[in-house]
Amino acid sequence: MMPLFFVEWMHFVGMLLMASATTAQIFVLKTPPSRAGVRAIVRGAVIFMIGSLVIVSTGLSRTLRSPQPLTAYEHSLCFSIAIGLFVLLLLWSIRPIRRVLGWRRVFKATGALPDDATWRGTARMLKAQLAPVSIITLLMVLTTHGY
Ligand code: HEM
Repeated sequence: MMPLFFVEWMHFVGMLLMASATTAQIFVLKTPPSRAGVRAIVRGAVIFMIGSLVIVSTGLSRTLRSPQPLTAYEHSLCFSIAIGLFVLLLLWSIRPIRRVLGWRRVFKATGALPDDATWRGTARMLKAQLAPVSIITLLMVLTTHGY
């Protein structure tokens, strides 16, 4: 079994991967659509997905290995809101991820790049992903303080 400190560290790494991949994608989407840009955006989407998997697996592991009983988390308002927001965040992220993977498919098949409006619209969708990440982080820290 992995040492607990490693799981806790990976929980933070998952968070960093999600936030940094989204930020990098937003910056790339500020430049005009390009082949290198599409590649970077796809990479960002993959890193975001890896970050989510890391956070879910380490989060579950932390919950099961916590010295607190599971009922403590069930009764924690902050924990429940954080998990609810996280689920909403994952559902929200499906649309930009599918769009970006679609860009790669079209680019590979025809060499066509996305139009300016779709490109900029995706940046707006991704900006909306960043706020929940910081709110969830705050709620989880409050959870560790027993709220
Ligand atoms: C399935 C999703 C998740 C589960 C099951 C989960 C579970 C947990 C657990 C059990 C703790 C320890 C609480 C305690 O010490 O009493 C924790 C801490 C924490 N979690 Fe999560 N978590 C999840 C997702 C997230 C997400 C999405 C974020 C941020 C974007 C996050 C950020 C944090 C932070 C910042 C802490 C406090 C770390 C510390 O002070 O050591 N978690 N999480």
